[in-house]
Amino acid sequence: MCGIVAYIGPREAYPVILKGLKRLEYRGYDSAGVALLDRELKVYRKQGRVAGLEESVIGKDLHAHAGIGHTRWATHGEPSDRNAHPHLSASGRLAMIHNGIIENYAQLKNELVKKGYPFKSDTDTEVLLNFIEYIQDNNHCSLEEALRIALKRVVGAYVIVLLEKDHPDTLIAARKGSPLVIGIGKGEHFLASDASPIIEYTKEVVYVNDYELAIIKCDELILKNLGNEKITPYIQKLDLELTAIEKGGYDHFMLKEIFEQPDTVFDCLRGRLDVGKGTITMAGVQNHLDKLSQAKRIIIVACGTSWHAGLIAEYVLEECCRIPVEVEYASEFRYRNPVIHPGDVIIAISQSGETADTIVAIENAKEQGAFIFGVVNVVGSSISRISHAGAYTHAGPEIGVASTKAFTAQLVVLLLIALKIAFEKRSIPEDRYMKLLAELQSIPEKIKELLRSADHIRNLAEKYKDARDALYLGRGYSFPVALEGALKLKEISYIHAEGYPAAEMKHGPIALVDENLPVLFVATRDAYHEKIVSNIQEIKARKGKVVAVISEGDEIITGLADDIMMVPVTDEMTAPLLSVIPLQLFACYLGMAKGLDVDKPRNLAKSVTVE
Ligand code: M6R
Repeated sequence: MCGIVAYIGPREAYPVILKGLKRLEYRGYDSAGVALLDRELKVYRKQGRVAGLEESVIGKDLHAHAGIGHTRWATHGEPSDRNAHPHLSASGRLAMIHNGIIENYAQLKNELVKKGYPFKSDTDTEVLLNFIEYIQDNNHCSLEEALRIALKRVVGAYVIVLLEKDHPDTLIAARKGSPLVIGIGKGEHFLASDASPIIEYTKEVVYVNDYELAIIKCDELILKNLGNEKITPYIQKLDLELTAIEKGGYDHFMLKEIFEQPDTVFDCLRGRLDVGKGTITMAGVQNHLDKLSQAKRIIIVACGTSWHAGLIAEYVLEECCRIPVEVEYASEFRYRNPVIHPGDVIIAISQSGETADTIVAIENAKEQGAFIFGVVNVVGSSISRISHAGAYTHAGPEIGVASTKAFTAQLVVLLLIALKIAFEKRSIPEDRYMKLLAELQSIPEKIKELLRSADHIRNLAEKYKDARDALYLGRGYSFPVALEGALKLKEISYIHAEGYPAAEMKHGPIALVDENLPVLFVATRDAYHEKIVSNIQEIKARKGKVVAVISEGDEIITGLADDIMMVPVTDEMTAPLLSVIPLQLFACYLGMAKGLDVDKPRNLAKSVTVE
């Protein structure tokens, strides 16, 4: 939700910020803006995409060596020029960008309005900015001091970066609940919501923690807590290449990321799986194996696609490890006073590691004595740092707003964790364990093979692109895949889609079926094959159009379905790693066929850092 970039140093700030905003646009694209500080404080803002901002500033004075930039996902106030960031304070001497939500903004605004402060936007950001200015004026103190005082009154989440007109040599930033990375160059600093705007300049970064303030000059970075005590910055080396965040010949990041899956699954297994020795090496699991294998209960918390991965993990963990598992939407879990016992294990799944609801859910559970295990993609993200232990998914940067390669990487990690615990507990027969390890190793090749039928799926997407609704059905391990397929279609093509367990269809959704409704079955070979064949027949009997994801060689469903998408044969537990991919492609091609921006679907943002 919102991307922020800032720069201070010898380069021209505007090109650095503009490029950074383009990289962060996946976080929000309702408006974009920059503030540049030279002798003057110059602010340019525009509703819509970063490209619109770029066009609107042609011919303007863009010279500056310090600046801040923002790409917005609207919370308070509609997308418009006047609600775009950076905001200027009432006096015009401060400019600020903000990612997050100030929950008590109404109360602060009332106080300021009574004191005669004017407001030019509907945003909570402008309220906070004027509040900071008011404190600075009232206390005749430095901006840093005013910020420290102001933040003690603030309820909510924020990363903010401020420019002060009379101090072009300094940026001031603060963080609580939203991400902030500072890149350290030679006589220059780069600030951003994630590392992607930074890596081409430096690999040395500092992840700012909650309740920390950063005072940044060209060659000085001071970190302090709200109590004004200095903190030694912990400098880390980024393990990220520029090519990972570029489109690499594809028209869309989503398509590139779908096609990357043979590699991302391979990377996720690399160094962990040794089929010859029958071992799984995962330090985060190994170091806490007692706790994990003796857990009375595992609660999985996540949102969206990560929640779907959690559902599959529930089936795997219960079957292999015989540990009861609950899968919770983080947004519900955090508010409903759940019963948590010390010894409960919480697995938090998140691509970004920054999803606000998931963060608060695990913080609450941690306070109640639960052990937190994070399954996260973004290295150094908040969830990875809050967790007691964890495993990275190593999918690389996922830029497309719709999650694809992160999902399959999550599944791989969760399978490995379950199998490792099961082996430790002796709750899985050894031959089954060995078979699953071998199956996992074969998955990258099998994904490569199924991607060869991408053109066929593109044709199907063309055929079904005018559908108004779609139903996705599956059983067992394929049910969460149906949910995920439906989510992808909704996000990318704006076609209304529902996912259901296939057997539930008769309890209501079957009423939707007619000759216009495509019903997508996830029907790879598993223990329920005969049952799903019956479900397909029930749809055909009502003239529904059946599109089925099936295992190679499935003559029965091939004979029944209107259209098929074929995946290589695998175990039912590893099948979701294959069966989801045709559905990702279907959604992506369908969105493309409709002429939509599949990387930036309307109203969405990549990481939901507000609740
Ligand atoms: O970063 P996270 O995995 O925590 O994000 C969770 C959801 O916001 C995310 O999966 C969302 O549903 C995606 N747009 C799905 O494609």
